Amino acid sequence: MINLKEELNQNTTVEKIQNKLFASAKEGTLFVANQIKTLIEEKASKGEQAILGLATGASPISLYKELVKMHKKGLSFSNVVTFNLDEYYPMDPKAVQSYHRFMEEHLFDKIDILKENINIPKGTLTMDEIPEYCKRYEEKIDELGGIDLQILGIGRTGHIGFNEPGSTFRSFTRLVTLDKKTRRDASKDFKSIERVPRKAITMGVGTIFKAKSIYLMAWGEKKAQIISKAVESDVSHLIPATFLQNHPNATLIIDEPAASDLKRIKTPWLVGDCEWTEKLTIKAVCWLSEHLSKAVLKLTDEDYNEYGMGDLIAQMGSAYELNLDIFRHLRDTITGWPGGKPDTGGQRRPERTHPFPKRSLVLSPHSDDDVISMGGTFIRLIDQGHEVSVGYMTNGGMAVHDEDVINRLSFMRHFMREFNIKEEKVEDFSVKIKSFFQSKDSSTIDLTEVLEIKSLIRKREAQSAYRFCGVDDDNAYFLDLPFYKTGKAQKKSISDEDVKRVKDLILEIKPHQIFVAGDQSDPHGTHQKCFEIFKTAFQEIIDEGQKWIKDCWVWQYRGAWLEWPIDQIEMVVPLSPDEVAKKRSAILKHVSQKNGGVYPGDDLREFWERVEDRNRNTAELYNKLGLPEYQAAEAFKRLIF
Ligand code: F6R
Repeated sequence: MINLKEELNQNTTVEKIQNKLFASAKEGTLFVANQIKTLIEEKASKGEQAILGLATGASPISLYKELVKMHKKGLSFSNVVTFNLDEYYPMDPKAVQSYHRFMEEHLFDKIDILKENINIPKGTLTMDEIPEYCKRYEEKIDELGGIDLQILGIGRTGHIGFNEPGSTFRSFTRLVTLDKKTRRDASKDFKSIERVPRKAITMGVGTIFKAKSIYLMAWGEKKAQIISKAVESDVSHLIPATFLQNHPNATLIIDEPAASDLKRIKTPWLVGDCEWTEKLTIKAVCWLSEHLSKAVLKLTDEDYNEYGMGDLIAQMGSAYELNLDIFRHLRDTITGWPGGKPDTGGQRRPERTHPFPKRSLVLSPHSDDDVISMGGTFIRLIDQGHEVSVGYMTNGGMAVHDEDVINRLSFMRHFMREFNIKEEKVEDFSVKIKSFFQSKDSSTIDLTEVLEIKSLIRKREAQSAYRFCGVDDDNAYFLDLPFYKTGKAQKKSISDEDVKRVKDLILEIKPHQIFVAGDQSDPHGTHQKCFEIFKTAFQEIIDEGQKWIKDCWVWQYRGAWLEWPIDQIEMVVPLSPDEVAKKRSAILKHVSQKNGGVYPGDDLREFWERVEDRNRNTAELYNKLGLPEYQAAEAFKRLIF
């Protein structure tokens, strides 16, 4: 019989590029920032210039923040020359989406770099000027002795800079056409894909390759797939980042979610010896069960041996015992009582029986995550008699179409006319808003009044959804966190006020359980920020020595994008067909999010469709593993402080 473990070891498990895995993006960022600091200081001590290659996008934002901090503590950038990778074409440098403006706002305006040392490809050239300009850009880098340290991000296409699939190893600075996937990803900044420029000027793969050292940073699970390709695939122009495998000094800096598709993380038992923790054992057994399409209780010693888990069987005694162990674990995650079941004895259940009823607080980053991600559980908690409160962390107004604003104003005008209510002011107001929309382009930030209306629309929709689920107005809180209120996809940094508002709410309710969005993959980072704010607030309450907080359990749900992997699920709440229908009705109260949201992302299904598929898949997965067959299920993971 073939030993699969050995075969895979030879063929597919080799990581072909150096990578450094950090527990968090913060730690990875700090590592890169320190490399830059050392370079700048070393060069300064020799009276030389440090030549940096810089990237834009979401990935390096925290790096620039760190560099600004270092500058405030004394690091000077007066000996630094920078070359940015790229700029959209055409692009006005003042536009919100321009990489010129991005660099000014995130870094250049906050450090002492000399203006003449900043180089960013120009988006305002005429077509005729581009070839000569690109040649000069390239020459200028060479004349300075080449880039000492190049920062890169990676696109979902595997692009580095804007070198999309098909770019050759010998490509240099030039005008390129953007891939559709890249334009779709950029549509969050331009509000629609049609407005994203089709072209860009970018350094080539050859330009990047000339850099003396390269750090490619990737954070979050949405990068996981492309990172595994960049690390494990052969060099190919179809994934431009693979070219870096041949660079003598290129390192990928990744956090755990971005590394999650690497074979050594995803299926380490196929790669080498494992330390069998409880979580890893669950992961491996469920993987084997799915892979062989066999229920957990049907797996045999032979199955385990064949797939690199012989040592696990040796440790556990036999497949029979291991299977039972995992089966029992999975069974005990299932409960129809997310607030704990009253009057039950010693059975193992995910939530405690006492106290009953509980005070439950659902924290929702946007105004619809409560019903999208845990609508079924939300309704059950209320129906089972718990005192449920809901806190909407941001106003979510960014996701409202301009057209909806016009429609609501028009409704109001007609309503006032119909009932003889004085309407001149509304009329004037409507004219003002309409003419604003007519002059609005993709870089215009909405008027304060427009932002306010959009936020009102979302709040009223949330109200009709929570009322439908059975929550009173007295138990609903709109926190309107300040970090969200920029009018742009790019949000502000977290402030004390953000934390205070969440903390005050927790202190007011003193919940026994809190449900919070713990996902890391929402496209604009709002969920991540809300999660950070929650964790800081909760930790502050612990640090203040409040005793009751020790008895407050925190359950994390995931946003609309992905479900928790099976090994991380600690509570799963099955939903009947009727409950699925009720949950859908609650989601559909968010009328402004129907018929193509402002930010549909890559997934064009509506939210209720995505979540129904996801909840059905979770139920099906449990069933395939050999557990009962449910219509749908919502999954949670506990967060322990
Ligand atoms: C930006 C650039 C791009 C980005 C890449 C990842 O200057 O050249 O290659 O680095 O698209 O973008 P984020 O970091 O936003 O995921």
